[in-house]
Amino acid sequence: MKSILGIGNALTDILAVLPDDSLLEKYHLPKGSMQHVDMETGDRIWTSLKEIGVKYVPGGSAANTITCTSIFGMPSAYIGKIGNDELGSLFKSTMEQSGVTTLMLYGTKSSGRCMAFISGVNAERTFANYMGAALEMEATDLKQEYFEGYDYFHIEGYLVQDQELIRTAAEMAHRAGSIISIDLASYNVVESNDAFLHNLVDKYVNIVFANESEARAFTGKEPAEAIRELSQLCDIAVVKVGKDGSMVRSGDEEYFVEPWPAKAIDATGAGDTYAAGFLYGHSLGLPLKTCGEIGSILAAKVVEVVGTKIDVPRWREAKAEIREIIAANGGETHV
Ligand SMILES: Nc1ncnc2c1ncn2[C@@H]1O[C@H](COP(=O)(O)OP(=O)(O)OP(=O)(O)O)[C@@H](O)[C@H]1O
Ligand SMILES: [Mg+2]
Repeated sequence: MKSILGIGNALTDILAVLPDDSLLEKYHLPKGSMQHVDMETGDRIWTSLKEIGVKYVPGGSAANTITCTSIFGMPSAYIGKIGNDELGSLFKSTMEQSGVTTLMLYGTKSSGRCMAFISGVNAERTFANYMGAALEMEATDLKQEYFEGYDYFHIEGYLVQDQELIRTAAEMAHRAGSIISIDLASYNVVESNDAFLHNLVDKYVNIVFANESEARAFTGKEPAEAIRELSQLCDIAVVKVGKDGSMVRSGDEEYFVEPWPAKAIDATGAGDTYAAGFLYGHSLGLPLKTCGEIGSILAAKVVEVVGTKIDVPRWREAKAEIREIIAANGGETHV
């Protein structure tokens, strides 16, 4: 089976259900907001949260995608930076438990984390994010040898905080002969790095994943037009339109892919899992539309659960459904 390497911000989600709003008040966090906090505040909040009990879920966009490709059976590896601490070890070991080969770098700061406070009757979420060591990853950390031997290289757009890092990684993966994909991450990432991202896609990227607002930010156009423009810059363009499905295009070949039926409760992780399903299909040499369908099946599973991880019964269901789709295309698979 073909292999894949991903790079991203190594972040752990820390989830805590609050008994009342006193912690939100203590740390001046408006309910429902998302704020970046410094190391000192990040450590103080984490200490407070530990007292009420927390759940740890290693994540970050590319890490989520790579975990899924590993569960599909693709040899999968991940580059990210963590601190030399408990949270970093947990990140690394959890990825490894999913079969991912970790190429972890170590920073001087403590490990990055997204702390989610769940409060009130509506289970509203308030976020305090501390990026920590993740943001310390830089171009000089990368070595050509890390990139050799992988068929695919997947980049999360959030890394544009350091353009030199992404450019160097893309150059190395290109030299290693990998097929390069990028998830554009968020419209503000695209808006504030417009020229850089156009250049990167044009020069190095084979497969672009964008949602509607990212596609609009990248091209200034609505999805139907945006996908055409995107596809002129790379081999395959994918534009996702949430519960309405997705579009996939390569050259003059274009398909609309219906969403797979789901009882959606939380959309978190839809984009990351879609990318994993699509890349898995692509690695098997399946037709473009089938790759989109596999992405949609996997995304439909993650929207049925709270958080970014598909549970075991849904993985089983997804694999059975994917086997059927592949068989209908006359292919064989080991899922
Ligand atoms: N309610 C839903 N039911 C079924 N499938 C869904 C639903 N919401 C999303 N999906 C699937 O997930 C795919 C990706 O979702 P979306 O367009 O929200 O991407 P995204 O914005 O990149 O996601 P994320 O917020 O995780 O980054 C869609 O193309 C669709 O196939
Ligand atoms: Mg996304």
